[in-house]
Amino acid sequence: MQVQAAAMANFSPLLLTTIWLVLVICKGVESGHSSAVGDPGMITDGLRIALEAWNFCNEVGEEAPGMGSPRAADCFHLSDSSLTHKVTESDNKLGVGKTFPGLSPKAKNNPDLYAVEKELYLGSLCEVDDTPRPWQFWMIMLKNGNYDTKSGLCPENGKKVPPFNPGRFPCFGKGCMNQPILYHQPTSLLADDIMRGGFNGTYDLGSSTGGSSSFFEVLWEKKVGTGGWVFQHKLRTSKLYPWLMLYLRADATKGFSGGYHYDTRGMLKTLPESPNFKVKLTLDVKRGGGPKSQFYLIDIGSCWKNNGAPCDGDVLTDITRYSEMIINPETPAWCSPTNIGNCPPFHITPNNTKIYRNDTSHFPYSAYHYYCAPGNAEHLEKPYSTCDPYSNPQAQELVQLLPHPIWADYGYPTKQGDGWVGDGRTWELDVGALSSRLYFYQSLLFLAAGSRYTSC
Ligand SMILES: *[C@@H]1O[C@H](CO)[C@@H](O)[C@H](O)[C@H]1NC(C)=O
Ligand SMILES: *[C@@H]1O[C@H](CO)[C@@H](O)[C@H](O)[C@H]1NC(C)=O
Ligand SMILES: *[C@@H]1O[C@H](CO)[C@@H](O)[C@H](O)[C@H]1NC(C)=O
Repeated sequence: MQVQAAAMANFSPLLLTTIWLVLVICKGVESGHSSAVGDPGMITDGLRIALEAWNFCNEVGEEAPGMGSPRAADCFHLSDSSLTHKVTESDNKLGVGKTFPGLSPKAKNNPDLYAVEKELYLGSLCEVDDTPRPWQFWMIMLKNGNYDTKSGLCPENGKKVPPFNPGRFPCFGKGCMNQPILYHQPTSLLADDIMRGGFNGTYDLGSSTGGSSSFFEVLWEKKVGTGGWVFQHKLRTSKLYPWLMLYLRADATKGFSGGYHYDTRGMLKTLPESPNFKVKLTLDVKRGGGPKSQFYLIDIGSCWKNNGAPCDGDVLTDITRYSEMIINPETPAWCSPTNIGNCPPFHITPNNTKIYRNDTSHFPYSAYHYYCAPGNAEHLEKPYSTCDPYSNPQAQELVQLLPHPIWADYGYPTKQGDGWVGDGRTWELDVGALSSRLYFYQSLLFLAAGSRYTSC
């Protein structure tokens, strides 16, 4: 699989805590709009970018030899044509056993806890003071989809479970959940006032990054004083690593974002709240990865409990919720009139009319790739499909959309191929309005809870 894309954010407002890819803007009631991300338009010459790598259940497990903890950052200040880095290469190589300011004794030799605290430390080095609160960095996230079911490493819907026999997930055997080899090219100022930097690497330990090995790369580039940062992503799977994920995200600067059970650092100085936020970004997909490769124009993630309360880090009752539109035109709808268990219970139109999934003449089946409910939901309407219980530290819920005319009101792709190879463009997505009309389990309770967040 190979996906290559360049994404660039333009301005900003919002709702959910984690925005994958890029986003930004709150529509004020009277006052136009304001940005929810720290660097609207990605136009500041001094960049703030970090990388994190996750195993199948969003933890570290074990560090890759010589690589340190899989958290790194590239943050710098530019003045008078000189670039001053705020994070050193020895900071980036910090790994279990090595101390840094703020490290707690219990995290020192625990790879999972160590990574959490290293992210906070890198955040402190990159932090930019702002109103209403400081922000730290954009986040590149890499994830290895191998799961060694005999390792006992991943909980089931947040509950610790004993090892079980393989078969349902890719894994070549012991060690398949490894962290990657990571190379960093610190941002530098080149000829013609071009600044450029990047991360790349492989999961195939002990092999070169060429040929048939897995490969990932994120490069960023900008001309001093003009335009915005352009990010180029590449991802290639291999025989041993058939499922890899690579995201560019704007995360909340504090709190429990989707997929985490600990405090994070990020770019969203204001928490976007639906329906009043939009995301503007430019996307140019250069090459697709075949029918099994998903690509999200945007993925939003958040976390709240089934009773509507915000997440508090208790993995038994926290539930991560994601919604994403898959724009690879080779991705079919699994939701259909004969497979309504793969559809949400109902669709909500822009004028707030509910259409039940058993209403075969009106329900927009081909607008939904797949819906799955949280594994710990208690009152699901049959038939239903529950989400993979192992790939997040807590239970999860997923609403996967496909381009379809019914999404036109929100500025989203309306037909297969929109935004795909050869159709690069700038999108202004009404993510807030759309997300307020997606079904989430016990979502009415959530909306009540959501209104307690500071509004944009
Ligand atoms: C990965 O990055 C390193 C360091 O910047 C560079 O030397 C190397 O050529 C890159 N690898 C590939 C395959 O592009
Ligand atoms: C709402 O939208 C649906 C589908 O777009 C349409 O059929 C219906 O008449 C609209 N209802 C109202 C009250 O406007
Ligand atoms: C369709 O589903 C709704 C909601 O579950 C239910 O109230 C209704 O009776 C169903 N209609 C038919 C024709 O089965």
